Amino acid sequence: MKTLTITRPDDLHLHVRNGAILQTVLPHTARQFARAIIMPNLKPPVTTVAQALAYREEILAAVPAGLDFTPLMTLYLTGSTTADEIKKAAASEHVHAFKLYPAGATTNSDSGVADIKAVYPLFAAMEQYDIPLLIHGEVTDDACDIFDRERVFIDTYLIDITRNFPGLRIVAEHVTTTEAVQFIKDADANIAATITPQHLLFNRNAILAGGIRPHHYCLPIIKRESHRLALVEAATSGNPKFFLGTDSAPHLTSLKETACGCAGCYSAHAALELYAEAFERADALDKLEGFASFYGADFYRLPRNEGTATLEKTAWTVPPIYGENGLTITPLKANEELVWKLAKG
Ligand code: DOR
Ligand code: ZN
Repeated sequence: MKTLTITRPDDLHLHVRNGAILQTVLPHTARQFARAIIMPNLKPPVTTVAQALAYREEILAAVPAGLDFTPLMTLYLTGSTTADEIKKAAASEHVHAFKLYPAGATTNSDSGVADIKAVYPLFAAMEQYDIPLLIHGEVTDDACDIFDRERVFIDTYLIDITRNFPGLRIVAEHVTTTEAVQFIKDADANIAATITPQHLLFNRNAILAGGIRPHHYCLPIIKRESHRLALVEAATSGNPKFFLGTDSAPHLTSLKETACGCAGCYSAHAALELYAEAFERADALDKLEGFASFYGADFYRLPRNEGTATLEKTAWTVPPIYGENGLTITPLKANEELVWKLAKG
């Protein structure tokens, strides 16, 4: 059987929620990844170091026995974040970044930043204390076409932020466009990007293939084929500015399959397998290890993981749902066949 063994990978952008959903989804990630950058967009959001430490304990308690998984916490940036909290976060061994959500851009972003220029003093503090800023890069202007929101964000905000804070480490999260890829390539070494499996595997037709496909709806929305090809090229190029961040974003099936479904694709059940499929199609399986296991750790100045993960070329069918008692999550590629399978520990 064909196998692929890589150093244990990290997921540098992950939503695990809390409560019952956390219990369902965390085992999937802990099986696949040694560490993950945990998004702070809970209700209410995780805005202080104290809250992040409490959330970290809740996550650790959900790690199945025998698995070794480390959550890397982040704080949600708001207009009320203080320079003192940034200093505290930078000094904490468990907090690794701040996340900027433009207010209204996506799920649980109501407490996000309404006036980005107004938080420039906070970016200055992050630059000073050397803690990364993770950006959901989409404008929220209703008049801006949903497919243009990332490109316009780069022109309107991201270029200006990088010019004003040249020492600030920034991750443009879940990039989806040719323009974002080009921006990252041209930027200094302290500017990087994560790429999701859905943006590597699908173009926007997948959202409307024969009908509305709510499980392919996420934000930033999946773009046209030319953008997908640019993302595949970036991810498989061996350029360390691009690394793995699934943006796995679980929502209950009932909240996805409804008149106004939530944004988010759930991919934690098969994240590595999905990336392997995308890399193999690009004839670049040899580039998966750098993307999945090295470049993200290097960017966050974490030691690269010890141990390995092995994928086997074995077809398996993704179950229709995970979870039970009405609390179910529909995974990406539900009921479909995947060609790679993560070998058991
Ligand atoms: O599709 C998304 N879902 N995009 C985001 O930015 C947030 C995420 C979520 O939390 O559900
Ligand atoms: Zn996200």
